Amino acid sequence: MCGIIGIASNKPVSTNIINSLKKLEYRGYDSAGLATINENQINEKKCSGRVEYLEKILFKTPAMGNLGIGHVRWATHGVPNEANAHPHSSEIVSVVHNGIIENSKILKHELEKKGKIFKSQTDTEVITLLLTDELKIKTPLNAVHDTLIKLEGSFALGIIFKEYDDMIIGARRGSPLAVGYSKDENYIGSDSYALKSMTNKISYLDDGDICVLTKDKVEFYDLSKNKINKKVLTLSDDKNIADKGDYKNFMIKEIFEQPITAKNCINEYIDKSREDINFYNIPFDAKKINKIILIGCGTAYHSCLVAKYWFEEFTSIEVETDIASEFRYRKIRFNKNNLYIFVSQSGETADTSAALDLCKKNKVKTCSVVNVVESTIARNSDWVLPIHAGPEIGVASTKAFIGQMLLLYMFSLKMGYLRGDIEKEDYQKKISNLIKLPDILIECLKTEDKIQLVAKDFLNSKGSMFLGRGFSFPIALEGALKLKELSYLHAEGYPAGEMKHGPLALIENGLPVIVISPHDKYFHKTISNMQEVIARGGKILLITDSNDNVISENVRFTINLPYLEKSLSPFLSAMPLQLLAYHVALLKKRDIDKPRNLAKSVTVE
Ligand code: M6R
Repeated sequence: MCGIIGIASNKPVSTNIINSLKKLEYRGYDSAGLATINENQINEKKCSGRVEYLEKILFKTPAMGNLGIGHVRWATHGVPNEANAHPHSSEIVSVVHNGIIENSKILKHELEKKGKIFKSQTDTEVITLLLTDELKIKTPLNAVHDTLIKLEGSFALGIIFKEYDDMIIGARRGSPLAVGYSKDENYIGSDSYALKSMTNKISYLDDGDICVLTKDKVEFYDLSKNKINKKVLTLSDDKNIADKGDYKNFMIKEIFEQPITAKNCINEYIDKSREDINFYNIPFDAKKINKIILIGCGTAYHSCLVAKYWFEEFTSIEVETDIASEFRYRKIRFNKNNLYIFVSQSGETADTSAALDLCKKNKVKTCSVVNVVESTIARNSDWVLPIHAGPEIGVASTKAFIGQMLLLYMFSLKMGYLRGDIEKEDYQKKISNLIKLPDILIECLKTEDKIQLVAKDFLNSKGSMFLGRGFSFPIALEGALKLKELSYLHAEGYPAGEMKHGPLALIENGLPVIVISPHDKYFHKTISNMQEVIARGGKILLITDSNDNVISENVRFTINLPYLEKSLSPFLSAMPLQLLAYHVALLKKRDIDKPRNLAKSVTVE
């Protein structure tokens, strides 16, 4: 979490810092700040809340200077107020930080014993005070290097110095940091997205690297201060980034973009004339994979859960799923014949990235399903499958979820086919049905009007429950996650068959219960579970592709979806659930693109 920007230029930088911070707000938005160097002074401005407030402050009291750093914060140490906002500056140095300094308490204690006074409750301020001491006797590079040695934890840093009005130093350990190049201007940024409007030439720091930039040149050093070279990458030209057009917010734009993103993804991987799935350069023999382990967090984890059902259905491979924050600390028996698949929209999630690093250390086969192809997870895995969803700005993941599921669906089908686990005829039938998916998603999104009515039922409810079986169970979990994330209402997802083992006790008159029941092998069983809920007063929203009117008796609302193919039902039922979470949040006047306490990219563990 947290976003960093730094610009060294031959012209004033504060406007571009603000513009970049607006792009970085998806990483954290509880406070913002910047510092520039002008006339041998550090000029620091910061506030709690959004970048727009910082912009207003600058409007009244501009921050001059051709060199500066900026930050958007997602609080870890200390409440989100002005004092805790970054940068953290002393008389001579100013620091922005993304990550967590795990030994900050010990360091703080030592500094306090020396009589140093802290102005904030943050872990970051120890870096500022350590650097301030080191700079009395050392060059900036040596001071930074020797300070970093004392730090435990993860960080990406941007640092400027009162005495060096043309120099920014950046450093990385565990949190991402990119460098951008332009004429008379160079940059550091938490990601390429923040730099994209200024340059398409980018390098990435690896863990332990330090970069020193002026407006004319960038130098890189490794852990031992040896000069190193970095590859310069040219970024792809994404034309549709960050413009919400006529939509009220990014989330609803991204929901309605899903038929197009699905089409792009399908066109990328499916050879329609041969009815085949093109995965080039698969770096392993599908027949020799014994087990697949799917790993992710949040919504990405839910796509892993759905994929477990697909891999089990289409292949003879054993499948496990794991939450990255659990996987990374368990005593895992790694096996070279297993394939470890990492799913992440951002490709920067700290837990997922650490779980991948653990697999790399144990020299097992890794593959990643990501949206951001330049991301750490993509760069560190043996094989990358991009979902081609385009930038997802809303904190709640929607089109990336559909993209992740699509990739995993195609992957499971291809694996089944390569191993001879499914017949060619079945394989091709599933592909021809998949090609119809984008048009079917358009139909599913037409449920919006009815969903708007349903949403009203949630306004005064204490909570809600989402139930499903089979493929629909992970979709129930995802529906509940979307609703709580956006509306701040309590919501739980359960396998419908689990209800009588405890959760049924929660059902009381008027509690909204969402039942996802496509016409698959679980259909009648789920409908029976639904009746048990109705008998106890639950107010049902049934999402189904069945037209059986008898089933709908005593059901408050039924959302009828088109029928495509059983294994594709998760894509269809996800649409009304995303719309439901959106409309409840809209009625409750929530900040839809930036729900409270959250951030888009979770780069701390
Ligand atoms: O970037 P990632 O896919 O790795 O992010 C994982 C989760 O943080 C993310 O899916 C989160 O759960 C979403 N905000 C849910 O909408």
